[in-house]
Amino acid sequence: MTNDQLFDRARRVIPGGVNSPVRAFRAVGGTPRFIARAEGPYLWDAEGRRYIDYIGSWGPMILGHGHPAVLEAVTKAARDGLSFGAPTEREIELAEEILSLVPGLEQVRLVSSGTEAAMSALRLARGATGRPLIVKFEGCYHGHADALLVKAGSGLATFGHPTSAGVPPEVTQHTLVLEYNHVGQLEEAFAQHGARIACVMIEPIAGNMNFVRAALPFMRRLRELCTQHGALLVFDEVMTGFRVGLGGAHALYARDIPGFAADLFVFGKVIGGGMPLAAFGGPRAVMEHLAPLGGVYQAGTLSGNPVATACGLATLREIRRPGFFDALAARTRTLLDGLLAAGRATGVPLVGDCEGGMFGFFFADALPQQYGAVMATDKERFNRFFHAMLDRGVYLAPALYEAGFVSAAHGEAEIAATAAAAREALAAA
Ligand SMILES: Cc1ncc(COP(=O)(O)O)c(C=O)c1O
Repeated sequence: MTNDQLFDRARRVIPGGVNSPVRAFRAVGGTPRFIARAEGPYLWDAEGRRYIDYIGSWGPMILGHGHPAVLEAVTKAARDGLSFGAPTEREIELAEEILSLVPGLEQVRLVSSGTEAAMSALRLARGATGRPLIVKFEGCYHGHADALLVKAGSGLATFGHPTSAGVPPEVTQHTLVLEYNHVGQLEEAFAQHGARIACVMIEPIAGNMNFVRAALPFMRRLRELCTQHGALLVFDEVMTGFRVGLGGAHALYARDIPGFAADLFVFGKVIGGGMPLAAFGGPRAVMEHLAPLGGVYQAGTLSGNPVATACGLATLREIRRPGFFDALAARTRTLLDGLLAAGRATGVPLVGDCEGGMFGFFFADALPQQYGAVMATDKERFNRFFHAMLDRGVYLAPALYEAGFVSAAHGEAEIAATAAAAREALAAA
């Protein structure tokens, strides 16, 4: 069947034809590609067309598709049993592996999705501090828990408004939404509400508004204010964890800000290696507020699933090999340089940034620092570019507010082919 036929068929039985909205290509228009299989850096659609994959399942596939060590671990685990609903040694191994990679982290709990991990971390922060308010930033996505589906109110004294039908305003009235990288707003929010703020949740490098870094002075002040007011700083590293570097974005800020440490962490994507697995973690004293030890309830039938943990462990063991991230970062840099050079060669204003195996680019003159600036970049040109690249066999994220991902399987040939496609696409679009 063709992609069009599959999309028609899917729309009859699945709302919008997809099981997660961005897959529907609504932002860029056109028919989503139905993927039949994947190998290394490539995807093949239902019509047999091959694409260089820069989505990597939205981040998890850091080794590329079908890495032999991962396949072997998953196959063996599946033969030993798909799910037990009882503890396993592999859960301990994965927790130990994660702790060994994130200095200062003392305990983690495994769950099945980033949404679940972020939602649970919020409940834990509120339970541990006994405070009601949470702070998030416009343009950061932390999954679709009700309290997080919220946009800024009309001023700092007002709380957020739901961004989804089905979320009563009462549910978001404890969520403050601030502008990313805006120190003044942060200071004002803490001045007004500091004693009631349980936590501030942040994507340290925001990958859900393409690729926007939290500036160092902003992060430094955020840490100071959280400490001063007794609020927990929650790093949502679902996207950046084990992706921008072995220690995630946290290691980058800890390197540049003396004494810097987040309080709680949220992980997903790479730690599952492509299987449904996520985690949240923090200091023992905070984590022990969770059931069965403490009063904060959290549970899951498939949490710590034996096949998912095997997949995650095999993935983490590959990425911790010496030189892995240096090579991945160099390749990603080459890709970004190629895209930017294509922009210069064709006279198209194009800027971008990257870290480890994650990158972003904007049709703009300067790198945006917050959501409003991201949304002001040239959307029409992005959409034309997206389709022109897709026609040339390069599969980028189908929306300008999404980051891109490079895997260890992307070789020089794929990167060069992408840069060549970009020159053609920009000249044509
Ligand atoms: C930073 C961040 N947090 C949380 C989530 C939610 O994760 P999931 O889609 O696994 O529920 C995502 C998903 O893209 C994310 O990028």
